[in-house]
Amino acid sequence: MASDLDADKIASSITGDLGRALRYVDEIASTNTAAMEWATRGGPHGAVVVTDHQTGGRGRWGRSWFSLPGKLLQFSVILRPDLPVERHGLLTAALGVAVADALEPIVDGTTAIKWPNDVLVNDKKVTGILVETQTTGSTIAVAVCGIGINVALERDDLPPEIAPRASSLLLETNRPLPDRSALLADVLVQIEARYAMALDPGHSHAIISRAAQRSAILGRDVVVRDPDGSTIAGRALSFNDNGALIVESDGATHMVVVGEVEQLRTA
Ligand code: BTN
Repeated sequence: MASDLDADKIASSITGDLGRALRYVDEIASTNTAAMEWATRGGPHGAVVVTDHQTGGRGRWGRSWFSLPGKLLQFSVILRPDLPVERHGLLTAALGVAVADALEPIVDGTTAIKWPNDVLVNDKKVTGILVETQTTGSTIAVAVCGIGINVALERDDLPPEIAPRASSLLLETNRPLPDRSALLADVLVQIEARYAMALDPGHSHAIISRAAQRSAILGRDVVVRDPDGSTIAGRALSFNDNGALIVESDGATHMVVVGEVEQLRTA
């Protein structure tokens, strides 16, 4: 059967600037690793590495990312933002908003962002985003933005360790899915628009507002884990202008720049 994802189909679907420089491979260890190597050798802003299957896909915090041939959309975009490092969360927010906006018309139900940038459909994770950077001085010179979307996974395809919290576009819609080449083109258009807003001081606040509107956690009781293993339990209040999460705990407010939301309870 002809694949819905190949270099020709992608090239003819691309309408914006991102993805004009494109590398498609049927199988690769990790598109993020390949894109970072390409960036190091001069890969341009907007270049994209996309694959049908990853054998060593990476998630946040050293986790692995599950892949199955033909069933996910997995790609990495090279961005060269020259953004102050403390604005990293703004870039993360822009990516989450872009993906959520692209997926919303495809699925039935609610599309939301679990801070920092997991995209949930009907409260289950459908997309993971891994941003890896190279800094020059105090600015982000290169951001490799890796995105994995569970497109056509059936329930039985999901490994038991993620099955309770994960889903796919197929499982969350009753309508036909777009082919993955068209979906990629669509997500890239959304990223281009949201990235431009994030970099524009006059519009970056709109990214934060949109991320807040789309948030699965604001107003809820959460437990947030820091990379050092410590946790804060409290109420997720808001995001600051840099995309950091503000949590109220025991009468004090905490700013969380890097972390992971472990538990959600309805407040
Ligand atoms: C996460 O949820 O922890 C982030 C998952 C990111 C997965 C994508 S798939 C494309 C790109 N290549 C990788 O190795 N990881 C990202």
